[in-house]
Amino acid sequence: MKFSKDFMFGVATSAAQVEGAALEDGKGLNIWDVYARIPGTITDGSTPDPACDHYHTWKQDVQTMKELGVDSYRFSFAWSRILPKGKGEINQKGLDFYKRLIDELHRNDIKPNATLYHWDLPYELEREGGWLNRDVVDWYGEYASLLFKEFGDSVPYWATINEPIATYVGYGQGWFAPGRIGEKFGRQANHHVLLAHGEGVRRFREENLKNSQIGIVVDIWHHHPLRPDHAEDIAIAELENEKAYRSYINPIFKGCYSDALLKYMEENNCMPDMKDGDMEKIAQKLDFFGLNCYNRVLDCADKSLLKLKKEINAGGNYMDNGNEKYPKAVYDAAKILVNDYQIGIPIIVTENGTYNCSEEFAADGRIHDTERIQYLNGFLEWIHKAIEEGIDIRGYYAWSLMDNWEWSAGYSYRFGLIHNNFETQERTWKDSAYWYQNLIRESRK
Ligand code: BGC
Repeated sequence: MKFSKDFMFGVATSAAQVEGAALEDGKGLNIWDVYARIPGTITDGSTPDPACDHYHTWKQDVQTMKELGVDSYRFSFAWSRILPKGKGEINQKGLDFYKRLIDELHRNDIKPNATLYHWDLPYELEREGGWLNRDVVDWYGEYASLLFKEFGDSVPYWATINEPIATYVGYGQGWFAPGRIGEKFGRQANHHVLLAHGEGVRRFREENLKNSQIGIVVDIWHHHPLRPDHAEDIAIAELENEKAYRSYINPIFKGCYSDALLKYMEENNCMPDMKDGDMEKIAQKLDFFGLNCYNRVLDCADKSLLKLKKEINAGGNYMDNGNEKYPKAVYDAAKILVNDYQIGIPIIVTENGTYNCSEEFAADGRIHDTERIQYLNGFLEWIHKAIEEGIDIRGYYAWSLMDNWEWSAGYSYRFGLIHNNFETQERTWKDSAYWYQNLIRESRK
Protein backbone atom coordinates (compact mmCIF):
# COMPACT_ATOMS: atom_id res chain seq x y z
CA MET A 1 0.00 0.00 0.00
CA LYS A 2 1.64 3.17 -1.17
CA PHE A 3 -0.09 6.51 -1.60
CA SER A 4 0.83 9.14 -4.15
CA LYS A 5 3.18 11.86 -2.99
CA ASP A 6 0.45 14.48 -2.98
CA PHE A 7 -1.97 12.41 -0.88
CA MET A 8 -2.41 14.40 2.32
CA PHE A 9 -1.80 12.69 5.64
CA GLY A 10 -2.98 14.45 8.75
CA VAL A 11 -4.08 14.25 12.34
CA ALA A 12 -7.25 15.74 13.78
CA THR A 13 -8.52 17.21 17.05
CA SER A 14 -11.26 19.61 18.09
CA ALA A 15 -11.18 22.68 20.33
CA ALA A 16 -13.32 21.48 23.25
CA GLN A 17 -11.51 18.16 23.31
CA VAL A 18 -7.94 19.42 23.51
CA GLU A 19 -7.64 23.10 24.34
CA GLY A 20 -8.59 23.24 28.02
CA ALA A 21 -8.32 26.81 29.36
CA ALA A 22 -12.09 26.80 29.44
CA LEU A 23 -12.27 29.99 31.46
CA GLU A 24 -9.03 31.63 30.50
CA ASP A 25 -8.23 34.82 28.59
CA GLY A 26 -11.86 35.83 28.21
CA LYS A 27 -13.30 32.63 26.77
CA GLY A 28 -17.04 32.28 27.34
CA LEU A 29 -18.70 29.05 28.42
CA ASN A 30 -19.92 26.64 25.80
CA ILE A 31 -22.71 24.09 26.11
CA TRP A 32 -20.26 21.28 26.95
CA ASP A 33 -18.64 23.29 29.78
CA VAL A 34 -22.09 23.55 31.32
CA TYR A 35 -23.52 20.12 30.43
CA ALA A 36 -20.45 18.34 31.85
CA ARG A 37 -21.20 19.92 35.24
CA ILE A 38 -24.58 18.22 35.46
CA PRO A 39 -24.02 15.11 37.61
CA GLY A 40 -24.31 11.88 35.66
CA THR A 41 -23.78 13.28 32.17
CA ILE A 42 -20.11 12.37 31.71
CA THR A 43 -19.02 8.78 32.43
CA ASP A 44 -16.07 9.75 34.63
CA GLY A 45 -17.57 12.99 35.93
CA SER A 46 -14.88 15.05 34.17
CA THR A 47 -15.14 18.40 32.39
CA PRO A 48 -13.43 19.59 29.19
CA ASP A 49 -10.90 21.45 31.31
CA PRO A 50 -7.92 20.95 31.28
CA ALA A 51 -8.19 18.31 28.49
CA CYS A 52 -4.75 18.36 26.81
CA ASP A 53 -4.01 21.95 27.77
CA HIS A 54 -3.35 22.55 24.08
CA TYR A 55 -4.14 26.25 24.60
CA HIS A 56 -0.70 26.36 26.24
CA THR A 57 1.10 23.39 24.66
CA TRP A 58 0.26 24.22 21.02
CA LYS A 59 3.86 24.88 20.08
CA GLN A 60 5.09 21.56 21.42
CA ASP A 61 2.08 19.82 19.82
CA VAL A 62 2.95 21.30 16.42
CA GLN A 63 6.50 19.96 16.87
CA THR A 64 5.02 16.52 17.49
CA MET A 65 3.06 16.82 14.25
CA LYS A 66 6.23 17.86 12.47
CA GLU A 67 8.03 14.78 13.79
CA LEU A 68 5.14 12.57 12.74
CA GLY A 69 5.61 14.04 9.28
CA VAL A 70 1.98 14.98 8.69
CA ASP A 71 1.03 17.35 5.88
CA SER A 72 -1.96 18.83 7.60
CA TYR A 73 -3.57 19.46 10.98
CA ARG A 74 -7.33 19.46 11.33
CA PHE A 75 -8.55 21.48 14.33
CA SER A 76 -11.61 23.54 15.20
CA PHE A 77 -12.17 27.09 16.37
CA ALA A 78 -13.87 27.52 19.72
CA TRP A 79 -16.72 29.90 18.96
CA SER A 80 -16.97 31.09 22.60
CA ARG A 81 -13.23 31.79 22.76
CA ILE A 82 -13.65 34.23 19.89
CA LEU A 83 -17.11 35.56 20.69
CA PRO A 84 -17.58 34.86 24.42
CA LYS A 85 -21.33 35.52 24.17
CA GLY A 86 -21.64 33.92 20.76
CA LYS A 87 -22.24 37.28 19.07
CA GLY A 88 -21.24 40.89 19.53
CA GLU A 89 -18.07 41.56 21.48
CA ILE A 90 -14.91 39.98 20.06
CA ASN A 91 -12.25 38.48 22.32
CA GLN A 92 -8.97 39.51 20.71
CA LYS A 93 -7.00 37.05 22.85
CA GLY A 94 -9.03 34.22 21.36
CA LEU A 95 -8.23 35.33 17.82
CA ASP A 96 -4.57 35.73 18.80
CA PHE A 97 -4.37 32.12 19.94
CA TYR A 98 -5.50 30.80 16.56
CA LYS A 99 -3.23 33.26 14.76
CA ARG A 100 -0.24 31.90 16.70
CA LEU A 101 -1.29 28.32 15.98
CA ILE A 102 -1.85 28.89 12.25
CA ASP A 103 1.45 30.77 11.86
CA GLU A 104 3.31 28.00 13.65
CA LEU A 105 1.71 25.39 11.38
CA HIS A 106 2.82 27.30 8.29
CA ARG A 107 6.34 27.70 9.68
CA ASN A 108 6.43 23.91 9.87
CA ASP A 109 4.87 23.28 6.46
CA ILE A 110 1.70 21.84 7.94
CA LYS A 111 -1.52 22.89 6.22
CA PRO A 112 -4.30 24.11 8.52
CA ASN A 113 -7.67 22.44 7.99
CA ALA A 114 -10.10 24.31 10.22
CA THR A 115 -13.64 23.51 11.27
CA LEU A 116 -15.82 26.41 12.33
CA TYR A 117 -18.12 24.38 14.53
CA HIS A 118 -17.26 21.14 16.29
CA TRP A 119 -20.17 20.88 18.77
CA ASP A 120 -19.25 23.65 21.25
CA LEU A 121 -22.05 26.20 20.93
CA PRO A 122 -21.55 29.27 23.14
CA TYR A 123 -23.71 28.82 26.23
CA GLU A 124 -25.10 32.35 25.96
CA LEU A 125 -26.66 31.34 22.64
CA GLU A 126 -28.11 28.22 24.21
CA ARG A 127 -29.83 30.49 26.73
CA GLU A 128 -31.66 31.99 23.75
CA GLY A 129 -32.70 28.58 22.46
CA GLY A 130 -29.45 27.55 20.80
CA TRP A 131 -29.90 25.44 17.70
CA LEU A 132 -33.68 25.55 18.17
CA ASN A 133 -33.79 29.28 17.54
CA ARG A 134 -33.72 30.08 13.82
CA ASP A 135 -31.66 33.19 14.59
CA VAL A 136 -28.74 30.82 15.17
CA VAL A 137 -28.27 30.78 11.40
CA ASP A 138 -27.37 34.49 11.43
CA TRP A 139 -25.33 34.20 14.61
CA TYR A 140 -23.34 31.44 12.98
CA GLY A 141 -23.06 33.45 9.77
CA GLU A 142 -21.58 36.46 11.59
CA TYR A 143 -19.10 34.22 13.37
CA ALA A 144 -18.15 32.55 10.09
CA SER A 145 -17.59 35.88 8.31
CA LEU A 146 -15.40 37.07 11.14
CA LEU A 147 -13.16 34.00 10.80
CA PHE A 148 -13.03 34.16 7.00
CA LYS A 149 -12.05 37.84 7.16
CA GLU A 150 -9.52 37.27 9.91
CA PHE A 151 -7.81 34.11 8.61
CA GLY A 152 -8.98 33.78 4.99
CA ASP A 153 -6.40 32.20 2.72
CA SER A 154 -4.08 31.28 5.57
CA VAL A 155 -6.44 28.33 6.06
CA PRO A 156 -6.52 26.28 2.83
CA TYR A 157 -9.34 24.00 4.02
CA TRP A 158 -12.40 25.22 5.86
CA ALA A 159 -15.28 23.07 7.07
CA THR A 160 -18.54 24.66 8.13
CA ILE A 161 -19.73 22.00 10.58
CA ASN A 162 -18.35 18.79 12.01
CA GLU A 163 -20.90 15.96 12.03
CA PRO A 164 -24.28 17.68 12.13
CA ILE A 165 -25.71 14.53 13.74
CA ALA A 166 -24.15 15.57 17.05
CA THR A 167 -26.66 18.42 17.22
CA TYR A 168 -29.46 15.92 16.75
CA VAL A 169 -28.02 13.78 19.56
CA GLY A 170 -27.75 16.85 21.83
CA TYR A 171 -31.28 18.12 21.21
CA GLY A 172 -33.14 14.93 20.34
CA GLN A 173 -31.61 12.25 22.52
CA GLY A 174 -30.00 14.11 25.38
CA TRP A 175 -26.77 12.22 25.68
CA PHE A 176 -24.75 15.08 24.20
CA ALA A 177 -24.85 18.75 25.21
CA PRO A 178 -27.11 20.56 25.76
CA GLY A 179 -29.01 17.46 26.89
CA ARG A 180 -32.47 18.12 25.50
CA ILE A 181 -34.72 15.22 24.63
CA GLY A 182 -37.40 15.14 21.96
CA GLU A 183 -37.45 14.01 18.35
CA LYS A 184 -39.00 17.28 17.23
CA PHE A 185 -36.19 19.24 18.94
CA GLY A 186 -33.63 17.00 17.28
CA ARG A 187 -35.08 17.39 13.81
CA GLN A 188 -35.49 21.15 14.24
CA ALA A 189 -31.92 21.57 15.44
CA ASN A 190 -30.79 19.48 12.47
CA HIS A 191 -32.61 21.69 10.04
CA HIS A 192 -31.05 24.82 11.53
CA VAL A 193 -27.58 23.33 11.52
CA LEU A 194 -27.98 22.57 7.82
CA LEU A 195 -29.15 26.13 7.18
CA ALA A 196 -26.16 27.43 9.13
CA HIS A 197 -23.92 25.32 6.93
CA GLY A 198 -25.47 26.88 3.82
CA GLU A 199 -25.10 30.35 5.32
CA GLY A 200 -21.46 29.59 6.10
CA VAL A 201 -20.76 28.61 2.50
CA ARG A 202 -22.50 31.75 1.23
CA ARG A 203 -20.41 33.92 3.54
CA PHE A 204 -17.27 32.11 2.44
CA ARG A 205 -18.00 32.80 -1.23
CA GLU A 206 -18.55 36.48 -0.40
CA GLU A 207 -14.93 36.75 0.67
CA ASN A 208 -13.66 35.59 -2.71
CA LEU A 209 -10.67 33.80 -1.25
CA LYS A 210 -8.22 32.58 -3.84
CA ASN A 211 -6.39 29.78 -2.07
CA SER A 212 -9.03 28.30 0.21
CA GLN A 213 -11.68 25.67 -0.17
CA ILE A 214 -14.85 25.01 1.77
CA GLY A 215 -16.67 21.81 2.63
CA ILE A 216 -18.65 20.13 5.39
CA VAL A 217 -17.73 17.10 7.49
CA VAL A 218 -20.38 14.39 7.75
CA ASP A 219 -19.98 10.96 9.32
CA ILE A 220 -21.31 7.98 7.42
CA TRP A 221 -22.05 4.94 9.57
CA HIS A 222 -24.00 2.95 7.03
CA HIS A 223 -26.62 0.65 8.58
CA HIS A 224 -26.71 -2.94 7.32
CA PRO A 225 -29.37 -5.55 8.04
CA LEU A 226 -27.90 -8.21 10.32
CA ARG A 227 -29.73 -10.84 8.28
CA PRO A 228 -29.31 -9.62 4.69
CA ASP A 229 -32.34 -11.54 3.39
CA HIS A 230 -34.70 -10.60 6.21
CA ALA A 231 -37.31 -8.00 5.20
CA GLU A 232 -37.75 -6.53 8.67
CA ASP A 233 -34.01 -6.08 9.21
CA ILE A 234 -33.71 -4.48 5.78
CA ALA A 235 -36.54 -2.05 6.56
CA ILE A 236 -34.97 -1.00 9.87
CA ALA A 237 -31.55 -0.44 8.32
CA GLU A 238 -33.09 1.56 5.47
CA LEU A 239 -35.00 3.87 7.81
CA GLU A 240 -31.98 4.35 10.06
CA ASN A 241 -29.89 5.42 7.07
CA GLU A 242 -32.61 7.93 6.15
CA LYS A 243 -32.74 9.31 9.67
CA ALA A 244 -28.97 9.50 10.00
CA TYR A 245 -26.44 10.43 7.31
CA ARG A 246 -28.89 10.72 4.44
CA SER A 247 -30.83 13.37 6.36
CA TYR A 248 -27.76 15.59 5.78
CA ILE A 249 -26.46 14.61 2.41
CA ASN A 250 -29.87 14.58 0.74
CA PRO A 251 -30.43 18.29 1.46
CA ILE A 252 -26.81 19.14 0.69
CA PHE A 253 -26.49 17.26 -2.60
CA LYS A 254 -30.09 16.75 -3.73
CA GLY A 255 -31.72 19.83 -2.22
CA CYS A 256 -34.45 17.91 -0.38
CA TYR A 257 -35.30 15.59 2.47
CA SER A 258 -36.15 12.14 1.15
CA ASP A 259 -39.79 11.02 0.94
CA ALA A 260 -39.03 8.31 3.48
CA LEU A 261 -37.71 10.83 6.00
CA LEU A 262 -40.58 13.26 5.36
CA LYS A 263 -43.04 10.39 5.94
CA TYR A 264 -41.24 9.43 9.15
CA MET A 265 -41.26 13.03 10.42
CA GLU A 266 -44.92 13.46 9.51
CA GLU A 267 -45.97 10.26 11.25
CA ASN A 268 -43.90 10.98 14.32
CA ASN A 269 -44.93 14.62 14.72
CA CYS A 270 -41.42 15.88 14.43
CA MET A 271 -41.49 17.78 11.15
CA PRO A 272 -39.20 20.78 11.58
CA ASP A 273 -40.47 24.28 10.83
CA MET A 274 -39.13 25.18 7.40
CA LYS A 275 -39.45 28.15 5.09
CA ASP A 276 -39.56 28.44 1.33
CA GLY A 277 -36.06 28.65 -0.04
CA ASP A 278 -34.43 26.72 2.80
CA MET A 279 -33.33 23.84 0.61
CA GLU A 280 -31.75 26.17 -1.97
CA LYS A 281 -29.87 27.78 0.86
CA ILE A 282 -28.57 24.43 2.13
CA ALA A 283 -27.65 22.92 -1.23
CA GLN A 284 -24.67 25.14 -2.05
CA LYS A 285 -21.87 23.98 -4.25
CA LEU A 286 -18.96 22.72 -2.13
CA ASP A 287 -15.26 22.31 -2.91
CA PHE A 288 -14.71 19.05 -1.00
CA PHE A 289 -16.58 16.57 1.14
CA GLY A 290 -15.13 15.72 4.57
CA LEU A 291 -15.92 12.11 5.40
CA ASN A 292 -15.66 10.85 8.96
CA CYS A 293 -15.78 7.09 9.04
CA TYR A 294 -15.37 4.77 11.99
CA ASN A 295 -17.55 1.73 11.40
CA ARG A 296 -20.83 0.40 10.13
CA VAL A 297 -23.95 -0.42 12.17
CA LEU A 298 -25.85 -3.70 12.13
CA ASP A 299 -29.62 -3.66 12.66
CA CYS A 300 -31.92 -6.51 13.54
CA ALA A 301 -35.62 -6.77 14.36
CA ASP A 302 -34.78 -9.39 16.97
CA LYS A 303 -32.59 -7.56 19.47
CA SER A 304 -31.45 -10.77 21.13
CA LEU A 305 -29.74 -11.77 17.90
CA LEU A 306 -27.63 -8.62 17.92
CA LYS A 307 -25.79 -10.07 20.90
CA LEU A 308 -24.86 -13.03 18.73
CA LYS A 309 -23.80 -10.92 15.81
CA LYS A 310 -20.24 -12.19 15.92
CA GLU A 311 -21.54 -15.60 14.86
CA ILE A 312 -24.18 -14.41 12.44
CA ASN A 313 -22.83 -11.53 10.42
CA ALA A 314 -21.17 -12.03 7.12
CA GLY A 315 -18.19 -9.94 6.19
CA GLY A 316 -17.11 -8.24 9.39
CA ASN A 317 -14.59 -9.48 11.88
CA TYR A 318 -13.75 -8.58 15.44
CA MET A 319 -10.80 -7.05 17.20
CA ASP A 320 -9.49 -8.52 20.43
CA ASN A 321 -11.23 -5.72 22.30
CA GLY A 322 -14.63 -6.97 21.07
CA ASN A 323 -15.37 -4.14 18.63
CA GLU A 324 -16.33 -5.10 15.15
CA LYS A 325 -13.69 -4.26 12.61
CA TYR A 326 -15.25 -3.36 9.30
CA PRO A 327 -12.70 -1.23 7.45
CA LYS A 328 -14.64 -1.64 4.23
CA ALA A 329 -17.03 0.95 5.74
CA VAL A 330 -14.90 3.73 4.27
CA TYR A 331 -14.93 2.21 0.80
CA ASP A 332 -18.70 1.69 1.01
CA ALA A 333 -19.17 5.30 2.11
CA ALA A 334 -17.03 6.63 -0.74
CA LYS A 335 -19.02 4.51 -3.21
CA ILE A 336 -22.30 5.85 -1.82
CA LEU A 337 -21.08 9.41 -2.30
CA VAL A 338 -19.91 8.79 -5.82
CA ASN A 339 -22.55 6.38 -7.12
CA ASP A 340 -25.72 7.36 -5.26
CA TYR A 341 -25.00 11.06 -4.91
CA GLN A 342 -22.58 11.78 -7.76
CA ILE A 343 -21.02 14.43 -5.58
CA GLY A 344 -18.48 15.40 -8.22
CA ILE A 345 -16.05 16.88 -5.68
CA PRO A 346 -13.01 15.37 -3.95
CA ILE A 347 -13.43 13.45 -0.72
CA ILE A 348 -11.12 13.98 2.22
CA VAL A 349 -11.33 11.40 5.01
CA THR A 350 -11.34 13.87 7.87
CA GLU A 351 -11.53 11.37 10.76
CA ASN A 352 -10.91 7.71 11.40
CA GLY A 353 -9.72 6.07 14.59
CA THR A 354 -10.46 3.74 17.46
CA TYR A 355 -10.37 3.45 21.25
CA ASN A 356 -10.25 0.58 23.69
CA CYS A 357 -6.92 -0.79 22.47
CA SER A 358 -4.01 -1.70 24.76
CA GLU A 359 -3.24 1.63 26.36
CA GLU A 360 -1.04 0.46 29.24
CA PHE A 361 2.68 1.08 29.47
CA ALA A 362 4.45 -2.26 28.92
CA ALA A 363 7.60 -3.32 30.76
CA ASP A 364 9.66 -1.80 27.96
CA GLY A 365 8.04 1.57 28.67
CA ARG A 366 6.08 1.58 25.44
CA ILE A 367 2.41 1.33 24.55
CA HIS A 368 1.78 -1.52 22.14
CA ASP A 369 -1.58 -0.49 20.69
CA THR A 370 -1.47 -3.15 17.99
CA GLU A 371 -5.26 -3.17 17.52
CA ARG A 372 -5.15 0.52 16.62
CA ILE A 373 -2.49 -0.11 13.99
CA GLN A 374 -4.55 -2.95 12.53
CA TYR A 375 -7.66 -0.81 12.54
CA LEU A 376 -6.07 2.23 10.88
CA ASN A 377 -4.17 0.10 8.41
CA GLY A 378 -7.36 -1.72 7.43
CA PHE A 379 -9.15 1.54 6.65
CA LEU A 380 -6.19 2.88 4.70
CA GLU A 381 -6.12 -0.29 2.59
CA TRP A 382 -9.74 0.24 1.61
CA ILE A 383 -9.10 3.92 0.90
CA HIS A 384 -6.21 2.88 -1.30
CA LYS A 385 -8.43 0.44 -3.15
CA ALA A 386 -11.10 3.11 -3.68
CA ILE A 387 -8.46 5.47 -5.12
CA GLU A 388 -7.17 2.73 -7.42
CA GLU A 389 -10.72 2.30 -8.67
CA GLY A 390 -10.81 5.96 -9.59
CA ILE A 391 -12.49 7.56 -6.58
CA ASP A 392 -11.05 10.98 -5.84
CA ILE A 393 -9.91 10.76 -2.21
CA ARG A 394 -7.31 13.41 -1.46
CA GLY A 395 -6.37 12.86 2.15
CA TYR A 396 -6.71 11.05 5.44
CA TYR A 397 -6.68 12.34 9.02
CA ALA A 398 -6.20 10.00 11.94
CA TRP A 399 -8.42 10.67 14.92
CA SER A 400 -6.68 11.71 16.98
CA LEU A 401 -3.30 13.34 17.37
CA MET A 402 -3.47 12.58 21.10
CA ASP A 403 -5.79 11.15 23.73
CA ASN A 404 -8.29 13.83 24.62
CA TRP A 405 -11.64 14.61 26.22
CA GLU A 406 -14.02 12.19 24.55
CA TRP A 407 -17.30 14.08 25.19
CA SER A 408 -19.74 12.04 27.28
CA ALA A 409 -17.09 9.34 27.76
CA GLY A 410 -14.79 11.89 29.43
CA TYR A 411 -11.15 10.84 29.59
CA SER A 412 -11.97 7.14 29.59
CA TYR A 413 -11.86 6.55 25.84
CA ARG A 414 -8.40 7.05 24.41
CA PHE A 415 -8.27 7.64 20.65
CA GLY A 416 -4.79 9.15 20.37
CA LEU A 417 -1.71 8.13 18.44
CA ILE A 418 0.05 9.93 21.27
CA HIS A 419 -0.75 8.96 24.85
CA ASN A 420 -1.59 11.80 27.21
CA ASN A 421 -1.19 11.74 30.96
CA PHE A 422 -4.00 14.09 31.95
CA GLU A 423 -2.42 14.80 35.36
CA THR A 424 0.99 15.87 34.09
CA GLN A 425 0.24 16.54 30.41
CA GLU A 426 3.14 14.28 29.54
CA ARG A 427 2.84 12.92 26.00
CA THR A 428 4.16 9.51 24.96
CA TRP A 429 4.23 8.09 21.47
CA LYS A 430 2.26 4.87 21.14
CA ASP A 431 3.34 2.21 18.66
CA SER A 432 0.63 3.52 16.32
CA ALA A 433 2.35 6.92 16.19
CA TYR A 434 5.62 5.32 15.07
CA TRP A 435 3.70 3.19 12.58
CA TYR A 436 1.96 6.29 11.14
CA GLN A 437 5.26 8.16 10.93
CA ASN A 438 6.75 5.27 9.00
CA LEU A 439 3.77 4.93 6.67
CA ILE A 440 4.03 8.62 5.75
CA ARG A 441 7.79 8.35 5.22
CA GLU A 442 7.42 5.33 2.96
CA SER A 443 4.77 7.07 0.87
CA ARG A 444 7.14 9.97 0.27
CA LYS A 445 9.89 7.79 -1.21
C1 BGC B 1 -16.12 13.22 16.48
C2 BGC B 1 -14.98 13.40 17.45
C3 BGC B 1 -14.94 12.23 18.40
C4 BGC B 1 -14.72 10.97 17.59
C5 BGC B 1 -14.57 9.70 18.41
C6 BGC B 1 -16.24 11.82 15.93
O1 BGC B 1 -17.55 11.51 15.69
O2 BGC B 1 -16.05 14.16 15.45
O3 BGC B 1 -15.13 14.62 18.13
O4 BGC B 1 -13.97 12.36 19.39
O5 BGC B 1 -15.83 10.79 16.75
O6 BGC B 1 -15.73 9.38 19.09
